[in-house]
Amino acid sequence: MRVGFIGTGNMALALAGAIAASDPDVAVCGFDVRPEQLARFTSQIPGAAAASDNSDVVTDADLVFLAVKPQGVKPVLEEITDTEALIVSILAGVRIAVLEASLPRARIVRVMPNTPALVGEMAAGYAGGTLADADDLELVSTILGHAGLAVRLPEALLDAVTGVSGSGPAFVARLIAAFSNAAVAAGIPRPDAIRLVLATFSGTARLLGEKQLTPEELISMVSSPNGTTVAGRTVLESSDLEKVIQQTVWTTIARSRELGDEGAGR
Ligand SMILES: NC(=O)c1ccc[n+]([C@@H]2O[C@H](COP(=O)([O-])OP(=O)(O)OC[C@H]3O[C@@H](n4cnc5c(N)ncnc54)[C@H](OP(=O)(O)O)[C@@H]3O)[C@@H](O)[C@H]2O)c1
Repeated sequence: MRVGFIGTGNMALALAGAIAASDPDVAVCGFDVRPEQLARFTSQIPGAAAASDNSDVVTDADLVFLAVKPQGVKPVLEEITDTEALIVSILAGVRIAVLEASLPRARIVRVMPNTPALVGEMAAGYAGGTLADADDLELVSTILGHAGLAVRLPEALLDAVTGVSGSGPAFVARLIAAFSNAAVAAGIPRPDAIRLVLATFSGTARLLGEKQLTPEELISMVSSPNGTTVAGRTVLESSDLEKVIQQTVWTTIARSRELGDEGAGR
């Protein structure tokens, strides 16, 4: 199995690192216009090879990640226009139809990943293009699975994935900052406050996932009558929290759609 990377920047490094760590049988190769990025990629990914150009990456590859910035994709598409490879685009806001117009024989899969891929905890959505068959989608699912969670959805929902998971780490980090600030205001030294809040967020997520609890079930479990949690919840639940989160996600989705429309001209 050979997996190629066109562009070996931060996301490529994260994905390739997770793939190489999970499956030693995968041979990784990549190309980048920046020699220093390519050198970092080949030195940090065990067994990774440097290709001589982007055409070299797609030759004989079972799967190729398109991992340049959206604004830099045009020359890449011109360089590999005849390819029949399985091309997995992680470009934010570039629709499958745009890629298929430039790569008419390629099997395209579009992915919306997120930055926790850097620690093997990605939450991604992906959608298949016209020529991507069931085997292609299965392979993409397996390869993405090495870096975290990958959920197949219609392409029209990838803007919603951006609203929740793609941009989500920034929103969750903002909540973590707010809880940490409250802990500091209550007297806990900041480093301890951050450690406690981080462990509370990750522990809660793990508890929900591993015990298959709904958020409502967990809330009920920790809410003793007249207890501390019930007291705190009276504030939270009389606030605009639900509305603020809805508006945050919807505004992100709207911007993602706008960027997709702009990207339609790429
Ligand atoms: N970072 C995130 O959180 C995130 C999340 C979701 C999706 N994405 C998507 O992931 C993609 C990559 O993001 P990134 O943060 O990894 O970008 P990055 O670190 O800038 O890496 C992209 C690399 O590709 C190189 N490149 C540009 N043109 C090239 C070409 N013709 N051939 C080969 N390499 C070329 C770039 O060089 P130059 O710097 O010289 O252009 C750069 O070294 C983007 O499309 C982004 O939308 C990123």
